Amino acid sequence: MPQVGLGTYLIPDRELEKAVTTAYDLGYRKFDTALRYHNEAGIVKALKKHGINRNDVFITTKISIDAFFKGGYHFDRKINLWNFKTVKRAVQEAFDNLETDYIDLFLIHWTMPIPWAQRVYKELTRLNKEGRIRAIGVCTSLPPQFDALAEVSDVVSAVNQFEISPLNTQKNLIRWCQDKGIVAEAMSTFSHYRSNEPRLEIIENPVLKRIAESHHKAVVQVVLRWLLQQGISIIPKTWNEKYLAENIDLFEFELSTDEMAIIDSLDQGRFLNYNPYVAFQKPFSSMGRFPKKYRNWNGFESDNKKS
Ligand SMILES: NC(=O)c1ccc[n+]([C@@H]2O[C@H](COP(=O)([O-])OP(=O)(O)OC[C@H]3O[C@@H](n4cnc5c(N)ncnc54)[C@H](OP(=O)(O)O)[C@@H]3O)[C@@H](O)[C@H]2O)c1
Repeated sequence: MPQVGLGTYLIPDRELEKAVTTAYDLGYRKFDTALRYHNEAGIVKALKKHGINRNDVFITTKISIDAFFKGGYHFDRKINLWNFKTVKRAVQEAFDNLETDYIDLFLIHWTMPIPWAQRVYKELTRLNKEGRIRAIGVCTSLPPQFDALAEVSDVVSAVNQFEISPLNTQKNLIRWCQDKGIVAEAMSTFSHYRSNEPRLEIIENPVLKRIAESHHKAVVQVVLRWLLQQGISIIPKTWNEKYLAENIDLFEFELSTDEMAIIDSLDQGRFLNYNPYVAFQKPFSSMGRFPKKYRNWNGFESDNKKS
């Protein structure tokens, strides 16, 4: 999997073709989409129109649990219990939208509530074994969610995509994933996922600015480089040409060990998006009931030592 890719959520339709093709010309080979973004078809149209072969790009897509809930996930789950085929249909939709025989990486957008994630994961596993999905993975998942998926599949997730930023360094989860050979992929580093507004507390952070100036780079590049040097995969989103170029121009400078440590020290453990730890501790989350047997996880050992 290419370590650098383009996040595409909320790129306006009118900007998508230019963003995708500019990114490709700049060297991007990974595109991150999702059924929920309603832009899978637009990405493929842009690639085809510019004569870019399917085999030349790596496509990640995702399925949300609500994709196969006819009435949305807030509805009574009994309505949905009967129809395993809808999971199949929802997954098939991605193949149809992307006009492809295979998908490089298929993620579960959320892994809660667990029984639904298990169903989807089983289907993704089946397609993975058939070779139609080359790798499967999850988003915003903590160890018990991986355990729950292991109950139904012998395929370990290749990727866990979750929020990582200098204000939320997620060292424990990154280490846990990397120890298991699971690639940590950073999302929502520079803005809330539902927003196109940059997060000024990062972009204008004086510590990051100082490091950036010393390398003659932009703050965003320093943060992306900090992620890459930790072995983290990145998918920053923008359709601004200058930013697209900056976000892949990351390989001709290096942060020192001291600079890496300074950025690490900005951590406040503060989530901008959804906080999986909090939802995990609640018997109910907005995604539905989280079964009791998965709720007795005590967190990462080093987190507990801190508190
Ligand atoms: N699995 C999930 O649940 C999940 C959730 C969220 C996101 N994602 C994926 O992750 C991708 C990235 O996350 P995100 O969209 O939330 O946010 P992001 O990429 O971390 O941040 C986007 C913001 O950063 C700004 N930006 C990007 N490059 C910049 C540069 N070089 N200089 C200055 N500002 C720059 C953009 O500004 P401009 O708008 O001005 O360009 C925009 O405001 C998404 O597009 C999506 O593919 C997945």
